[in-house]
Amino acid sequence: MASEKRRLRRGLPPGPRLPPALQLLAFWKRPAASLVRLRRRYGTRFTIQLPLQPPFVIISNPEEIKALFTASPEALHPGEGTRILERFLGRNSVILLDESAHLEQRRLLLPAFHGERMQRLTPLMTELAEAELRAWPREQPIELHPRLQRLTLEIILRAVFGLERGARLDRLRDLLTELLAFSESPLSVLPGLERYLSWLPVVRRFRTVIAEADAAVYALIDERRAARAGDRDDVLTMLLAARHEDGSPMSAPELRDELMTALLAGHETTASQLAWAFERLAREPAVAERLVREDDRYLTAAVHEILRLRPVLPNAEPRLTKRAVTIGGVTYPDGVALLASAFLVHHDPELYPEPYAFRPERFLAQPPGTYTWIPFGGGRRRCLGASFALQEMKIVLRGVLTRCSLSPAERTPEATARRSITFSPRFGARVVLHDRRPAATGSRDMVAIA
Ligand code: HEM
Repeated sequence: MASEKRRLRRGLPPGPRLPPALQLLAFWKRPAASLVRLRRRYGTRFTIQLPLQPPFVIISNPEEIKALFTASPEALHPGEGTRILERFLGRNSVILLDESAHLEQRRLLLPAFHGERMQRLTPLMTELAEAELRAWPREQPIELHPRLQRLTLEIILRAVFGLERGARLDRLRDLLTELLAFSESPLSVLPGLERYLSWLPVVRRFRTVIAEADAAVYALIDERRAARAGDRDDVLTMLLAARHEDGSPMSAPELRDELMTALLAGHETTASQLAWAFERLAREPAVAERLVREDDRYLTAAVHEILRLRPVLPNAEPRLTKRAVTIGGVTYPDGVALLASAFLVHHDPELYPEPYAFRPERFLAQPPGTYTWIPFGGGRRRCLGASFALQEMKIVLRGVLTRCSLSPAERTPEATARRSITFSPRFGARVVLHDRRPAATGSRDMVAIA
């Protein structure tokens, strides 16, 4: 064991020598500051060691990120590095697969998440955003993050699962909310331990909830398969029409696993990203005002900028080496996890002057670079829900800002806190909303931007 560790460490980029538990603590407590400190000390590639994990090499040079994203699927396995999610997502989830199995599943999903297809979801996303915004109190400090979580969950249940208002939506909402809360508990990152703790009430409850949620999702799939598709716009409709290369439809477990994947991959990420957008915009009134006045180009640039400044997933999925791979002149042996760091590449002053300033203008003159702007990862693993998330963010931002102005409820900007896997604003994006008078615009504006 010790010699295996030495073999792996040999020739890897330098990094801290602290015990793995202390390295984990530093990353958990001060995630963003730890990354910046290590880059200052060791440069654009360094190695960290967390308990019970392979060495993690953090990479932030765009050329090396390109090599990482375009390496052969046989050499690097992102799916294998994410297995801990299997209890939630099931074994067919696109996130957990590698090589040809991954490609096949991804090919089935791509049309359902295509940008043009997403346009059709604009009216539904707009309606749900407007309903949520109506419930937000004005003229008092509120935390936007939990409200945005409620909204992004509703949007996934309606636009991805295709649920209509009614008892089934209510029941699944309750079950999935409980499941998502469990996915944030420390137990969920220690699946090995959970096996020995099956007597714990929380573990027993988790098993009951996942069984009940599965039963409800399978019933939905059966019902939808039996019904004629009609002209529905939800993602499940597209997945029911998808065909494997041999012409067979996706099986019920495949459909269930991909729905759960969209839920887990798309709910907290989008909620945290929107929370950061409001946390920043409350402190940038000039940008917020420009967003109300200007066209879609500026709104798109502002969304790109918030994804640069506060990427909620600090890195793309860890890619586990399956054989020796050379990147940037370093040869990595098999058994090492390579991570492209969005947080560090996005804050490189050589690429982004004054990297901590919030400046949508950066992306007005030129679009984001493939290997210098990586909030959605890249290559053949790039986020399948990127168009979905961008559209949702634009609708929610413009919808809120045309109706309300914002001021911060905290004097100092919110630091970064880790919520399971995402970087989120520490106090939940605390702001005060003020109605604009007269009511600035109608719902036409919300539809017009997407
Ligand atoms: C702001 C919101 C979001 C962010 C920042 C985000 C970010 C990411 C990142 C960094 C990855 C890993 C890519 C890589 O390793 O190269 C990923 C993968 C993925 N995301 Fe997202 N995501 C967001 C929203 C969504 C939504 C809304 C959905 C679906 C409705 C979604 C579905 C997926 C799926 C299915 C994958 C796995 C792709 C694969 O392995 O082939 N994401 N996302």
